[in-house]
Amino acid sequence: MALLSRLSLALRVVCISFRNGYSSGGTGGLTVAGRLSEDPAVSVLVIEAGADDRDNPAIFDIYEFTVAENTPLDWQYPAENWRIINSGKTLGGCSSINAQYDTWATLLEPSEAHVGWNWNGMLHYMRKSENFMPPTADQIAKGAQSIPAVQGSLGPVHSAFSYGMYGGPQQPAFLASATNASGVVHCPDLSAGNPNCVTMNPLSINYNDRPSSSVEAYLTPVEKTRKNWVTLTQHLVTRIVWTGMKSPLVASGVEFATYTNTTNGTTRFTAHARREVIVAAGAIRTPSVLQLSGIEQVSSIANDLAPPELKPIQTNTIMAAGGTGFPVNGTGPNNAIAYPNFFQIFGNASDAKAAEVGNSIKTWAASQAANGHSATALETIFRAQADIVLKDKAPMVEMFYITGPDVAVDQIVTNLWQLLPFSRRRLEIVSTDPFEYPNIRVNYFNVSFDMDVQVAGLQLLRKIFRTPPFR
Ligand SMILES: *[C@@H]1O[C@H](CO)[C@@H](O)[C@H](O)[C@H]1NC(C)=O
Ligand SMILES: *[C@@H]1O[C@H](CO)[C@@H](O)[C@H](O)[C@H]1NC(C)=O
Ligand SMILES: *[C@@H]1O[C@H](CO)[C@@H](O)[C@H](O)[C@H]1NC(C)=O
Ligand SMILES: *[C@@H]1O[C@H](CO)[C@@H](O)[C@H](O)[C@H]1NC(C)=O
Ligand SMILES: *[C@@H]1O[C@H](CO)[C@@H](O)[C@H](O)[C@H]1NC(C)=O
Ligand SMILES: *[C@@H]1O[C@H](CO)[C@@H](O)[C@H](O)[C@H]1NC(C)=O
Repeated sequence: MALLSRLSLALRVVCISFRNGYSSGGTGGLTVAGRLSEDPAVSVLVIEAGADDRDNPAIFDIYEFTVAENTPLDWQYPAENWRIINSGKTLGGCSSINAQYDTWATLLEPSEAHVGWNWNGMLHYMRKSENFMPPTADQIAKGAQSIPAVQGSLGPVHSAFSYGMYGGPQQPAFLASATNASGVVHCPDLSAGNPNCVTMNPLSINYNDRPSSSVEAYLTPVEKTRKNWVTLTQHLVTRIVWTGMKSPLVASGVEFATYTNTTNGTTRFTAHARREVIVAAGAIRTPSVLQLSGIEQVSSIANDLAPPELKPIQTNTIMAAGGTGFPVNGTGPNNAIAYPNFFQIFGNASDAKAAEVGNSIKTWAASQAANGHSATALETIFRAQADIVLKDKAPMVEMFYITGPDVAVDQIVTNLWQLLPFSRRRLEIVSTDPFEYPNIRVNYFNVSFDMDVQVAGLQLLRKIFRTPPFR
């Protein structure tokens, strides 16, 4: 382990989902590693539990969408009622972010206001990371649009419409019917700051229709030349090592072990950090590692912006509609997504539902605090959440429209999931064995209002399917 003793920075990366590079965003630990290691004076170690699967078609083939699920590339965490949480276990991957950037700023301390965690501040970095390929004439004819001013062209993360983009008539019809049925307007570019719209979205793919994951964007181009960045796959971080147990805790390194699907390593190695330890292990491993490291109640960081243990796990409802014999005019993948807001979902019930939200926040915060959080912090977060939903009309659900799932090209499926649920999950390690999975309670619909949103969203979806020109 001579190599490790030279490292000044240890970092662990697991991204929460591996294949959904299908939305803009999706930066993770490898992004940080890539940026930090640009400075030759900084040594970076990335520890990843999964393998390096860049050559696996389940990872690089954009038409193999979802085939990695329930395979060794997936953690497959069990949760209550026999649910399985799919979560990427492979180098790189990426997570899609449904963040409401300006709301982050409202949760910061006044002394932190200068960090610029808002839309304007983030746009600069999003553009910097991006290499967007404007749509071709053929893609424009199929409905692709973009606003050049919000797209970057010099960064490492590629974004493009696929060469096989579906033409129609089913994608444009979904856009038109969503507008007709709900009033959600069409926007040319989802990345322009107001996502309450329906549009064709580019994908995080490069020009050869390969996913531009954080590993492909940041590691692949430099791994032969950048000697100050070491990536250790198939190793599991077993705990963070602290300099003492007095507050404030200072991390001095991480302990880790070999981890493959046939080996739980018994030897513990330690990487000493000369500078810092960055934990970017996703919504499930991050709280697990913190708990394994002696931080039992993570509520001390509850004022941080959506720390992982406060993040809800999204619910995904699928609505399928048969259809046969229409010309899809392309090979995909899909682009059409609608993001209706509270008022578009609840229609004439909006006033009553808005009053219910206003009157319930304290109760909801108290009820979710039972899942191990601070009621005060949750109330602050829920108020910010209610404000963006009711005042800023942020989207409540995402309707991800799909032509041709695995079964048949001319079938139509729409996934509907909530972007801002109030229910909070509970996660606890069950033993000090780092290889054992934590006990996860996803708590879908624990706040009953979330069920109302799901039902109203599905009702709107049915209305869209019944509205011309889609019908
Ligand atoms: C496919 O879509 C393109 C762009 O809209 C159009 O020019 C072409 O005629 C379509 N092809 C078929 C077979 O419908
Ligand atoms: C072990 O994992 C590798 C990928 O890392 C996979 O190719 C292999 O099939 C897995 N073996 C079993 C028995 O699950
Ligand atoms: C809302 O509109 C629906 C029809 O779209 C109607 O059935 C229902 O009675 C209306 N509710 C109220 C409270 O006006
Ligand atoms: C690794 O440890 C976990 C938890 O103790 C256990 O469930 C699993 O079977 C072990 N795997 C191997 C390959 O020994
Ligand atoms: C909500 O979550 C709590 C804590 O996990 C649980 O005890 C309770 O049964 C849940 N209630 C519902 C309605 O799901
Ligand atoms: C919108 O829907 C209405 C009622 O379902 C229908 O009569 C109308 O033709 C549709 N408008 C367009 C532009 O398709």
